[in-house]
Amino acid sequence: MFAGRDVLTITDFSREALERLFEETDVILNALTGGKKLDALNGYVMATAFFEPSTRTKLSFQTAMLRLGGAYVDLPPEEISSRAKGESLADTIRMLDSYADIIVIRHRLEGAAKFAAEIAEHPVINGGDGTRDHPTQTMIDLYTIKRAHGSIDGLTVGVLGDLKYGRAARSFILGLSIFKPEKIYLISPPQLSCRPEVLRFLEERGICYEEASTVTKVLPELDVLYVTRIQRERFPDPVEYEKVRGSYVVNELLLKNAKANLTVLHPLPRVDELTYSLDQTSHAWYFKQAYFGVPVRMALLKLILKG
Ligand code: NCD
Repeated sequence: MFAGRDVLTITDFSREALERLFEETDVILNALTGGKKLDALNGYVMATAFFEPSTRTKLSFQTAMLRLGGAYVDLPPEEISSRAKGESLADTIRMLDSYADIIVIRHRLEGAAKFAAEIAEHPVINGGDGTRDHPTQTMIDLYTIKRAHGSIDGLTVGVLGDLKYGRAARSFILGLSIFKPEKIYLISPPQLSCRPEVLRFLEERGICYEEASTVTKVLPELDVLYVTRIQRERFPDPVEYEKVRGSYVVNELLLKNAKANLTVLHPLPRVDELTYSLDQTSHAWYFKQAYFGVPVRMALLKLILKG
């Protein structure tokens, strides 16, 4: 299911494969919390090639590798690597492929991870490319829901925010469709609504969904609220960003009609769409979600490299 494979988009994975990943994650998490030292990837090297900003994805992949006894090499920022001399992406990937056993790439262009996977002989993991895919974030999101609610099936899930440019949101919506949620509410300012191809995909999979422009009305129905930031850096025109900036905020007032066990998730970083005062409430699962990034990525690396 995982041995030697690339991780490019979440819909390449079956429910069975994701359940296997979650099972392995549980085992690893137990070992981590029990203080056990793991060494399954002793002698393996991972290369991280991040051409866009990252805190969680890059550091949790690197932590994951170290916690499994492996090592990593990291492509330096543009100004101090050979990219400054005009080296192509293809040549950069070819080099990393010859040094490491696995490559994790993040890039501003859609399809960059697939391009890298065509060049590299070793497995390539997409750490987020452009506005489309972020499969390992979705694995973490789905795992977090499973920890919080026991199952993804039968839940009503709201996805709030930039559904047009946000790859974490898009990938999450597609990932939900691998399971059987009761209903998905796609909540966004009209300018940032979900792309038609994603809606078509949900229809083909027989997933019940509804688009909404505000969260207030649907909130009492939700088991999970997945909040995302407006992806300012993706807007072709800054004037368009100014029009939607600050158009939604999740705070305690909004959650006063929420189910007692509503889980609020966010891939992070947050800007102004999720108030800090929520962090103290039982709804706040987003830091736990970020923490699960390490065991989920450990499980993934182990399953790919060791089968
Ligand atoms: C996301 C990303 O880079 O797509 N961050 C992450 O990986 N946790 C979300 C975002 O930047 O808004």
